Amino acid sequence: MMDPVLAEQAKFAFQQAYAPFSRFHVGAALRTKSGKVFFGANVENSSYGLARCAEQSAIQTMASNGEREFTEVVVYSEASPPASPCGACRQILFEFSPEAKVYCYNHLGDVIEGTVQDFLPHGFRLNPDR
Ligand code: THU
Repeated sequence: MMDPVLAEQAKFAFQQAYAPFSRFHVGAALRTKSGKVFFGANVENSSYGLARCAEQSAIQTMASNGEREFTEVVVYSEASPPASPCGACRQILFEFSPEAKVYCYNHLGDVIEGTVQDFLPHGFRLNPDR
């Protein structure tokens, strides 16, 4: 079941999105294994390729706060079907928590769910001990 706190935080983040070019707002919120909640919105740029997705914003904040594992991430958009992480975000999520739950939902109440590795089977992993 989607965490209602994360659902609310993702919706709040959605309202903060900086997306003047696509006008496509997305909010993401995640809960770390230690119980902390971080959220992020998509942030676009006049140099289009520098746009950062909401999931990346949330992960960047999580890692910058010293956290390395999350148990669930919720993505909110007003798209139908709900926006789900792009390929780059799936790899970024996979880096930290391939087993984490992903819930993508929208204003209509539609929900797409799975684990990070459901969304990205065989994600890329370097062996840090090498
Ligand atoms: N975008 C997200 O932030 N999350 C998703 O799950 C899908 C797409 C954003 C929306 C828009 O800013 C676009 O990606 C820019 O790369």
